[in-house]
Parts: sequence; structure tokens; C-alpha cells
Amino acid sequence: MRIDIITIFPEMFEGPFSHSIVRRAQDKGLVEIHLHQLREYTSDNHHKVDDYAFSGGAGMVMMIEPVARIIEKLKGERVYDEIIYTSPDGELLNQPIANHLSTFENLLILCGHYKGIDERIREHFITKEISIGDYVLSGGELAAAVITDSLVRLLPGVLGNEVSALSDSFQDNLVSPPVYTRPRDFRGWKVPEILLSGNERLIEEWKFEQAVERTKRRRPGLLEV
Ligand code: ADE
Repeated sequence: MRIDIITIFPEMFEGPFSHSIVRRAQDKGLVEIHLHQLREYTSDNHHKVDDYAFSGGAGMVMMIEPVARIIEKLKGERVYDEIIYTSPDGELLNQPIANHLSTFENLLILCGHYKGIDERIREHFITKEISIGDYVLSGGELAAAVITDSLVRLLPGVLGNEVSALSDSFQDNLVSPPVYTRPRDFRGWKVPEILLSGNERLIEEWKFEQAVERTKRRRPGLLEV
């Protein structure tokens, strides 16, 4: 998979993409992530990417010209399965959307900024708008990093079998059951006996019951879909 990200803050991705699973996936050649500085596609000396909104109102609006230039350049180089815009009014990211996007070859993500982007960008270039939650971030970079992380961990070969993405919370509309490691007894706080029993069938039943119980208590909405 290849993911291209258009941003005015490429440095913001250094942390999330240089560690852990996303880093390992890149090192193994399972994903290529390319960051593009939008300011390099401006035509003025000040590398301006935003301007005042027609009709006034608070906040600057991302201009169409540099965005059109970079998107058209990238589209000339390969076919994108989706061109995603990160925005609080987009479709709410969930596991089925992440699963679906992870099956694609080429994704392009445009990070939103300021008060918004010229509506014509959305109309003419964007094929999917994604929000990562009902709150407003300062920009789309963190959202793009979250989306990328949620996809990359699903790519075949990225996770070892022992931590397969199939056992993640949400894959079966259940949150994960509790897990424990050594010591068996910490200050009298004991690991449930059943997990030490070695009885695979009973352990699987226990995990399933715990997952259902937790989901009912914490995220009942997941059981309604
Ligand atoms: N940009 C600002 N807030 C956002 C959100 N909640 N999701 C995606 N992009 C955003």
C-alpha cells in the first residue's frame, strides 16, 4: 500500500510514523508513506496557502490553487482508490471503514486546516471525508496520522500472529476482554484462576463472556448494530 499525505506540517508526522508498528511496516516494505509540503505548490514568494473568506467571517480558508496543483500532479503519477479529506464533519472513522480502506493500493490524504478549505476542493477532488471524532482538532494532521495507523496495522504481514488484528476490539463489535501477565499475585490482587487453568476451551469461553459483559457495560451501542 502507498499513502500520500498533503500537509503544511510534515514534521508533525515524524513521531507517529517513526516508531512501533507503522515504522516496522515501512521498514518491511509493506507500506510506503509520502509526505508532501503543500507550500511547495504555491506560486507566490510567500508560499501562501490560505486567504480571507468571501463574505467575511472569522478565519482563513485554504486556497484551491496549490491543492489543485499537488493533487493533479499526484493523480498524473498513479490512480488513487480514494482521495480523503480529514474534517470534523466527515464520516466517523470506525473499524469497518479502516478494514475497507486497508484493502486499497493507493490512498491520498489531504489534511484540513484553518476554518476550512475552499468548497470547490471538496466538490472536485475529494472522494471521501473522514472525521476521527466529534471534537475539533487544530488541523487534520493528527487525524491523518490516526487514519494511517489504523490502516497500516491491518496490512497482511504487519502484525505477527500472536497479536493478529483479528483479535482487536471492534473487529466483532465487542471490546477486548481483560488481559494479565506476571506476577500471578501482586499484593493479593490475583489473576483469575481460569486463565491459569490451561483449559483452552474454558479460557476462550471466559474471554468471550468477559468481552460481551464489558461491551454491555462500556459500549452498549456496539451491540445494537
Ligand atoms: N480536523 C479537525 N478536527 C477533526 C476531526 N475531529 N477529525 C478529522 N479531522 C479534523
